[in-house]
Amino acid sequence: MRQKIAAGNWKMNLTLPEARQLTQEIKHHKIPKDVNVILGCPSPFLYMMNSLVEKTDRLNIAAQNCNNNDSGAYTGEVSHSMLSSVGVNYVIIGHSERREYFNESNKLLKEKINTLIANGFKIIFCCGEPLKIRKAKTQSNYVLNQLQQSLFHLTSDEMKQIIIAYEPIWAIGTGLTASPAQAQQMHSFIRKQLNSKYGKATSEATSILYGGSVKPGNAKELFSMKDVDGGLVGGASLKPEMFKNIINAF
Ligand code: 13P
Repeated sequence: MRQKIAAGNWKMNLTLPEARQLTQEIKHHKIPKDVNVILGCPSPFLYMMNSLVEKTDRLNIAAQNCNNNDSGAYTGEVSHSMLSSVGVNYVIIGHSERREYFNESNKLLKEKINTLIANGFKIIFCCGEPLKIRKAKTQSNYVLNQLQQSLFHLTSDEMKQIIIAYEPIWAIGTGLTASPAQAQQMHSFIRKQLNSKYGKATSEATSILYGGSVKPGNAKELFSMKDVDGGLVGGASLKPEMFKNIINAF
């Protein structure tokens, strides 16, 4: 059975009191038994948010980024040992905003993944195409290339630490959602690639999340698709009522 996951990505939003309030509300929500909730917090909040949730079943905190180096002169960056030392063991890697605004290449993401895998982290690896690629109908090759260049060097044992998030860039923060059929089509494609690279056990065990304007109104239908194992949610994860409804949508 694949894990069902409702993950929030707060991006660069909220102050500490707001983050605490939001986390408390999610903590007191009855999370369905088979659902894992992950909150992607900004770095300054990680220690406190993790302390808030560490005794709560099925509720985890994720960092939104991590440097590929172990330590050193990288002003402003966060290392894997810093994250471990505050109890965080999930990291979002390769979000399209990191790729676009911070020039993170497939090659750099591969290095980040290697560092995190070696140190026992779980990784939410984001992939997804821009509108131009979708219009040219070459999205499958585009996503496959992202997987091949950053992920497919891992062993099947290491793949157990990976959650994939398919986030078409044209659907992020735009209110445009991939239709459930479009999401299913790409998720099924990704699972087929996992199958041909790693075999059935790995492809059936890897959770693939959909991200891009997930809201309470569309989550149920998206999550009911065969290969959609949950969502990576931006805007709607900042609103407790909306996010709770998304958690309940499985
Ligand atoms: P929105 O849900 O705001 O479209 O953001 C999606 C996203 O980028 C999650 O990582």
